[in-house]
Amino acid sequence: MAQPALIPSRREAAPAERTSHDELLAGLTAAEAAISPKYFYNALGSKLFEAICALPEYYPTRTEAAIFAAHQQAMAQAIGQGCTLIDLGAGNCAKAAALFEALQPQQYVPVDISTDFLHQSVAGLQERFPQLPMLPLAMDFSATLALPETVRQQRRLFFYPGSSLGNFDPRQALDFLRRVRAALPLGASDGGILIGLDLVKDARVLEAAYDDAIGVTAAFNLNLLNHVNGLIGADFSPRDWRHVAFYNGRQQRIEMHLEARRDLIVRWPGGRRTFHQGERIHTEYSHKFTEQDILGLLDEAGFGNCRLWFDQRRWFAVCHAQAR
Ligand code: AVI
Repeated sequence: MAQPALIPSRREAAPAERTSHDELLAGLTAAEAAISPKYFYNALGSKLFEAICALPEYYPTRTEAAIFAAHQQAMAQAIGQGCTLIDLGAGNCAKAAALFEALQPQQYVPVDISTDFLHQSVAGLQERFPQLPMLPLAMDFSATLALPETVRQQRRLFFYPGSSLGNFDPRQALDFLRRVRAALPLGASDGGILIGLDLVKDARVLEAAYDDAIGVTAAFNLNLLNHVNGLIGADFSPRDWRHVAFYNGRQQRIEMHLEARRDLIVRWPGGRRTFHQGERIHTEYSHKFTEQDILGLLDEAGFGNCRLWFDQRRWFAVCHAQAR
């Protein structure tokens, strides 16, 4: 999210700044400290995430891309042409752009929390596709899906690839899918969702994907501390923290944490917290799904007529579902 380096004292903080400030302090002072994964994505964090996607260990991006490449025509048939393509967490917009030819959208609406990155990406894309109306929206869509009226109502297709749904806990994931359903006009069976989800698999494959050999995921995790320093004026020193990632098989999720390398105190205007060596800040869950989990979740959220496509190893799934 593009945030000011420090909240200036000369003016009142805007509501969004206050919310993130309060949310961060609540997480930092909780008995089990936590920082929401949405704070990974400042300008550097978004670039680090792009680098993660190119890592040999991080299979989800390329596996999902192979599914799209292999099944594009079948997907286009299920979806129909001329949709309003609403790309949630668009990032560099590359995944959606790869589908433009098959889907022939009437409007492209990339939505992302990282404002600068979004606008840069869309500027480049608009040059490549001058005929396609594009409406970039910089917003935290995990909080609200209230879209402006300039977003077409017809044939809305919410595109949510990359298994980002897995970063919510199961209750939040269901609530989120229900909000997506509610953002489709009532009775709009021509509206739907195209979603990519990472599947349960061998823990060694999963753990390597979230703790790569050259430390890009560690840098991504640690960069969160720099971002938080900028947002609330804290004095985290990333050198004092260690990246931790492991698979929790019972909960079907990768957990990422930052672990204090020594006893230390973190200060911010108006507060401080002591962390003991080995104490952790939880930074991300990345849930993994079974086919049954996916069908059950979509059904509960008000979607039906699901079609699933897989890669050969069944490591990843792409699902299209229609509003019921
Ligand atoms: C964005 N999200 C789906 C990624 C994931 O795999 O959960 C974020 C990520 N965290 C570490 N590596 C990638």
